Amino acid sequence: MSKEQSNNKRILVIGGTGQVAWALGQGCPQDYTLRMVPRQELDLSDVDVLASRVEQLIQSFNPQFIVNAAAYTAVDRAESEENIAFAVNGIAPAIITNIAAQANCPVLHYSTDYVFDGTKSGSYVEDDEPNPVSAYGISKLAGERGMRAASQQILILRTSWVFGVHGSNFLKTMLRLASERDELSVVSDQFGAPTSADLIARVSYELMGAMLDVQVDADDPRWGLYHLTASGETSWHGYAAYLIARAREMGFPVRVEQEKIKPVTSEQFPTAAVRPANSRLDTQLLRSTFGLTLPDWTVCVDEVLGKLRCES
Ligand SMILES: NC(=O)c1ccc[n+]([C@@H]2O[C@H](COP(=O)([O-])OP(=O)(O)OC[C@H]3O[C@@H](n4cnc5c(N)ncnc54)[C@H](OP(=O)(O)O)[C@@H]3O)[C@@H](O)[C@H]2O)c1
Repeated sequence: MSKEQSNNKRILVIGGTGQVAWALGQGCPQDYTLRMVPRQELDLSDVDVLASRVEQLIQSFNPQFIVNAAAYTAVDRAESEENIAFAVNGIAPAIITNIAAQANCPVLHYSTDYVFDGTKSGSYVEDDEPNPVSAYGISKLAGERGMRAASQQILILRTSWVFGVHGSNFLKTMLRLASERDELSVVSDQFGAPTSADLIARVSYELMGAMLDVQVDADDPRWGLYHLTASGETSWHGYAAYLIARAREMGFPVRVEQEKIKPVTSEQFPTAAVRPANSRLDTQLLRSTFGLTLPDWTVCVDEVLGKLRCES
């Protein structure tokens, strides 16, 4: 092993095929070595053997950080598959954190705006009382709580409306529908900030770097839970209208006329899982603690559209 390699920060990434995991792989800085762990190698629903499998992975790779990017993210399906969603999102994070803590290894994990019921009038801060209204939200909140009980050396980033080049997401679905249909109906009474997987990956590296560059103690006040989204806010309808307008300008095939992107209410667009009407997350704590600036969501959309255009 070269000296440069031996100085690298070793990060074990669980969920190696998801949107955020993929962005972590793409955006990996030179001084990091990643070990991606896909579901085939570590199934988080298999909670009986999870601890021993994580122990083996830690022993063989000796990571300085574990990133848990795996989750049961099918929000509507979770309503009929509560047990599996709860195992993956609610139980597994604590098991991973517990084993990591025994090896003195910190864990970075992602959570969601869906831990809130969406009834607050302003943006949610970290100390606001969660009250999830879906099976997915309940499972993710249990995961946060289990981790916090298992170790102090954790970073939990609650994010929202994730999209990227890789994987299935709202932006890619809208791009496809915009090329196929003459009219689209999009929910206009839920508000939040679309956040790119690339931004989440960039911030994840910033935070891990901050905690690894200087050896920080387990009781460092920066460990804990933060809200991470792009800046600004919009509705799903505003998001769709913006991304389709930009896609048109950038030369993507777009069939639907801008005025044919119709706003509808959540009531007009029923889904198995209830979504919070207000998904706004206040990111002040994250920005001030780590000295970060977060780009507007439109900048993230432009960036991802640019990458998709290069690929097509
Ligand atoms: N997507 C969003 O809009 C959103 C919003 C807020 C918060 N978040 C949170 O952000 C994090 C990353 O989300 P994402 O959008 O990157 O998710 P994603 O694209 O759906 O990826 C989820 C990953 O988890 C893996 N996974 C699912 N079940 C598993 C199991 N039983 N064992 C092992 N791996 C399993 C998937 O593997 P397969 O590829 O094999 O299925 C996939 O690699 C998650 O914690 C999520 O809750 C996401």
